[in-house]
Amino acid sequence: MKMRLTAAILAGMTAFSMMTACVSADENAIDKIKSAGKIVMTTNAEFEPFEYKDGDEIVGIDLDISHALADKLGVELEVADIAFDSLIPSLNAGKADFIAAGMTATPEREKNVDFSVPYFNASQSIIVKTDSEIAGRADLNGKTVGVQQGTTGDVYCTNEDQSSDVSVKEVKRYAKGMDAVSDLIAGRVDAVVIDDYPAEKLVSKNPDKIKKLDEALTEETYAIAMPKGSDLKPVVDELIQELNDSGKMDEIIGRYIQLDDADSSAAEAVAE
Ligand code: ARG
Repeated sequence: MKMRLTAAILAGMTAFSMMTACVSADENAIDKIKSAGKIVMTTNAEFEPFEYKDGDEIVGIDLDISHALADKLGVELEVADIAFDSLIPSLNAGKADFIAAGMTATPEREKNVDFSVPYFNASQSIIVKTDSEIAGRADLNGKTVGVQQGTTGDVYCTNEDQSSDVSVKEVKRYAKGMDAVSDLIAGRVDAVVIDDYPAEKLVSKNPDKIKKLDEALTEETYAIAMPKGSDLKPVVDELIQELNDSGKMDEIIGRYIQLDDADSSAAEAVAE
């Protein structure tokens, strides 16, 4: 009897401490951030123009948005650079307050995180060697394709759920998009599938060897990810709205990419 009571009390205590742990990670995120004086953002800085290393510093569109968020809350921004496929597990282990990583809001990810309103329209695109016979998505069938591990490009090419219409021979997964491109140049993969703007940046470093095809394989939107139920979400949504309304979002994006008219109306479609 005594034993059972102790067990019941212990179980009750565990449940209580689990509840308080959840509360401190989610509903009271803002209190926690303010009392720490800092907000922790995680990213994967292998994704120019959204996040990349410039010497020792991590810079890019997502960094500028994150700095604006820290300013809005009146705290410092701390940035941690980790593997792309570790971002969501690490967020849910309480190691960060939010993810800003050119991350596409997908229903699958939404099971584990809350997404802000979208801030950027994107798509997957194909990079091939300049002399490649691959001219579009149909030509990927039977080919070996390089992707960044755990990205929507990986999901698209792996096509486990048969949601895309490609049937590639093999998907090679890399920690960095840049490594996939090196293997493309070395002839170890036939194509690389990666987000459109990062593809352009990668191609601009080797324009004589590789090219990006015009065809857009998917329609995606980037959003900031937060733990489920985080009270940070309305603040981030408001920030994105403010940056859009004030023209600051275009200013930030314009620091890293030249948007032509068509593209900037695409970015605005997200804003509205
Ligand atoms: N948009 C793609 C996705 O969400 C790729 C993002 C890769 N981001 C990065 N920082 N490496 O899966």
